[in-house]
Amino acid sequence: MKVEVKRICCIGAGYVGGPSMAVMADKCPNIQFHVVDTNPERIQAWNCKNLNKLPIYEPGLSEIIERCRDKNLYFSCDVKQEISNADMIFISVNTPTKKRGLGAGQASDLKWIEACSRQIANYAKGHTIVVEKSTLPVKTALTIKSILDAYTNKGKYNTKDVKSFSILSNPEFLAEGTAIRDLINPDRILIGGDDNEAIRSLMNIYLNWIKKDQILTTDIWSSELSKLIANAFLAQRISSINSVSALCENTEANINDVAKAVGMDSRIGKDFLKSGPGFGGSCFKKDISNLIYICNHYGLYEVASYWEQVISLNEWQQKRIISTIVKKLYGTISGKKLTILGFAFKSNTNDTRESPAINICKNLLEEGCYLSIYDPKVAANQIVKDLNIEGFNDGNEFENSKLLETHSSVLEAVVNTDAIIILTDWEEFYDLNLEAIYDLMRPPCWIFDTRNVIDVKKAKSYGFNVWKLGNGKFT
Ligand code: NAD
Ligand code: UGA
Repeated sequence: MKVEVKRICCIGAGYVGGPSMAVMADKCPNIQFHVVDTNPERIQAWNCKNLNKLPIYEPGLSEIIERCRDKNLYFSCDVKQEISNADMIFISVNTPTKKRGLGAGQASDLKWIEACSRQIANYAKGHTIVVEKSTLPVKTALTIKSILDAYTNKGKYNTKDVKSFSILSNPEFLAEGTAIRDLINPDRILIGGDDNEAIRSLMNIYLNWIKKDQILTTDIWSSELSKLIANAFLAQRISSINSVSALCENTEANINDVAKAVGMDSRIGKDFLKSGPGFGGSCFKKDISNLIYICNHYGLYEVASYWEQVISLNEWQQKRIISTIVKKLYGTISGKKLTILGFAFKSNTNDTRESPAINICKNLLEEGCYLSIYDPKVAANQIVKDLNIEGFNDGNEFENSKLLETHSSVLEAVVNTDAIIILTDWEEFYDLNLEAIYDLMRPPCWIFDTRNVIDVKKAKSYGFNVWKLGNGKFT
């Protein structure tokens, strides 16, 4: 059925829903975009007059919000109203790993997808195009379809309203920290489905700023699966280079040089070959775990175990960083103060989901040290929550109150510290005032650089001891 799309509803005002609808609204001034969420605080933050208080930090986002908000871009909790007014609905809700029950720790928890489908089935009017934007296990469209069908077929849910639906898959490939750039200039747009009119309607929206040859159309299952596989391939490259970083440390080779030499082969490519403390973020581990679950479901045990290694290596990388720090600091960090620079899972985001910093900091605290943490964008209360400080020392509040300090500058965070551990590649860490930092620390001053941001020669000239991940000369 031909649909002229004038009004779009996006369910889920998160890291994907907010930025992706903001860019679409900016590029399509004749379409109304309504982003809805059940979380009133998030919606309030999206509507906040002070653009520094948006719920998500992304370079370039606030400028677009300023241009479009309340013109053709709206944020509200009115899920029912906006679903019923929409010609097209993007589902952009969270799909985390199941914590309990069958498939716990691997399968995706689709309860939010199911809830959305029921809301859409209940409130939609006329013909509606439903677009999966969340990352979903292959075949999820069947679940959505069967819920929507149950409401349109005659029987229990038969109403006087005539409703019909087309389902499309349109996975999102943006990376946090570069979301706006990625949305404006994506490598490709992927649309999966079998209703050509619906595909055309979605394509017409993207054609406002994307060239036609960058829009790939496939069947719905290939589209759903491609998203999981793209993330698995990216994460696999990180585990590969991190495995090599350990070898470099034992052979006096330098991981940056190896990555450069390998990446200059055009068949391999230079991107995603930066070694570090392992991949974090809300999606890589979740999506590979889901892939493993699906492979096991189909009896493809060898394939599952291949992908399992990508996650194991990632965990091992963090373990070996922790044990290196303890070993270098004379075998114990009990009672010592360590400064963590960077808590977000990567630079240019305030997101800490699955950040390597969480696991590394928790393990360092278990070893009995005190932490002093600075991150330019992550709020102090988020750090306290992520580290679950109350859980230490058998819940002794007095002892736990001493475990963690959070600071608003590097120089504040390094006072009387024994070591600095760089965990996120924020721009400002490439240009630290090493002379001033050295004077504020307790000798012998150590820097553990897991992101390759420190100029080692310079740091050594001030008297620092430096361990640089993947660099055999500084191990
Ligand atoms: P998020 O947790 O930031 O946002 C999801 C939002 O959906 C939340 O605000 C939640 O309150 C809301 N929500 C859940 N159920 C709802 C319902 N029934 N009605 C209304 N609102 C509801 O998640 P995210 O990071 O934006 O990720 C969303 C999806 O996109 C996931 O499947 C993820 O794998 C995928 N994805 C994420 C990224 C990323 O960079 N974060 C990139 C590409 C794809
Ligand atoms: C990733 C993908 O890059 C996106 O294409 C995808 O849409 C998204 O997941 C998703 O589905 O959620 P994101 O997690 O936001 O995006 O960020 P990345 O740039 O991929 O970084 C992920 C992690 O890998 C970070 O911890 C980062 O520091 C680490 N990383 C990345 C490295 O250690 N080395 C690299 O070379 C690249």
